[in-house]
Amino acid sequence: MTSLQGKTLLVTGASSGIGQALCELLVERGANVLGVTRRPSALSEDVSPILADLTQREQVSSIFQGLGKIDGLVNCAGTAYLSRIIDGNPADWEEMWRVNVMALALCCQLSLKHFPASGGRIVNVSSMSGHRVPPSGGFYAPTKFAVRAITDALRAELKSVKSPIQVACVSPGFVDTPLLDSYFLGREQSLAQTRAAMKMLEPADVAWAVLTILEAPAHVEIGDILMRSVEQQM
Ligand SMILES: NC(=O)c1ccc[n+]([C@@H]2O[C@H](COP(=O)([O-])OP(=O)(O)OC[C@H]3O[C@@H](n4cnc5c(N)ncnc54)[C@H](OP(=O)(O)O)[C@@H]3O)[C@@H](O)[C@H]2O)c1
Repeated sequence: MTSLQGKTLLVTGASSGIGQALCELLVERGANVLGVTRRPSALSEDVSPILADLTQREQVSSIFQGLGKIDGLVNCAGTAYLSRIIDGNPADWEEMWRVNVMALALCCQLSLKHFPASGGRIVNVSSMSGHRVPPSGGFYAPTKFAVRAITDALRAELKSVKSPIQVACVSPGFVDTPLLDSYFLGREQSLAQTRAAMKMLEPADVAWAVLTILEAPAHVEIGDILMRSVEQQM
C-alpha cells in the first residue's frame, strides 16, 4: 500500500461535495492538502487554499505558478446543468466544457513537471454519465465522456515517454451533493422524486474510491472505478 503520510496532494473542487470529503480523508491520512476553490472559507480545516476560477485559463495556469512538488492531483471540480442539445443554453455548455474538460486537461498537463522523478498519481472524477448517455442529461454527459478519453489519452502518452506517473478516473452514479441542485434546476420535483426513490451515494463513498486509487501499491495502476448506489438502476 502507498502511504500518503507527508505527501502533498492538489485537489480541485475542494470546497464542496466529493472534493471536500476527499480533502478530509487526506488530512486524516497525514497528507498536506492544497485545495483549489473560488470560496476559500468553505474549505475544511487544514486544507491550504489556492484561489482560482477554473473557467479562466490564466487562473488555471496561476495554480501552478510557484507551486512546489506534488505527489498527487485529483481533478474533482465540476459543473452540471441540464442543458439539452436541442434547446439548451450554449453558455451552460461552455461553462461545463471549460470546467469539466479544459481546466481538467490543463491541470493534468501543468501538474506533470511538479511530480518527483519517482512519479505519483492523477485521478480525474468522471461519472457514470461518461459511460452511458442519460436521456435527459444534455451536454453534461459529453463532458464526462471527454474526461474518460483524456484520462486514457494521458495514460498512453505517459507510457510512451516512460513516465512513472499514473492516471485514473472514477465514475460515480448519483452522489448527494449540491451539484444536483444545478443539474435539476427547474426540475426540483424530479430531484425530490429521485431522492425519495433511492438512496444515493454519499460524497465520502466516492472519496473512498479515490483514496483506494491513491493508496494502491506502487505497481498497481487502477484505470477506472465505476460505482453506483445499490438502488440506482442505470
Ligand atoms: N454529484 C453527482 O451526482 C456526481 C455524479 C458523478 C460525477 N460527479 C462529478 O464529481 C465532481 C464533484 O462534484 P460534486 O457532486 O462534489 O459537486 P459540488 O458539491 O457541486 O462541488 C463542485 C466543486 O467544483 C468547484 N467548481 C465548480 N465550478 C468551478 C469554477 N468555475 N472554478 C473553480 N471551482 C469550481 C466548486 O468550487 P467553488 O464553487 O467553491 O469554487 C466545488 O468545490 C464533478 O466533477 C462532478 O461532475 C458528480
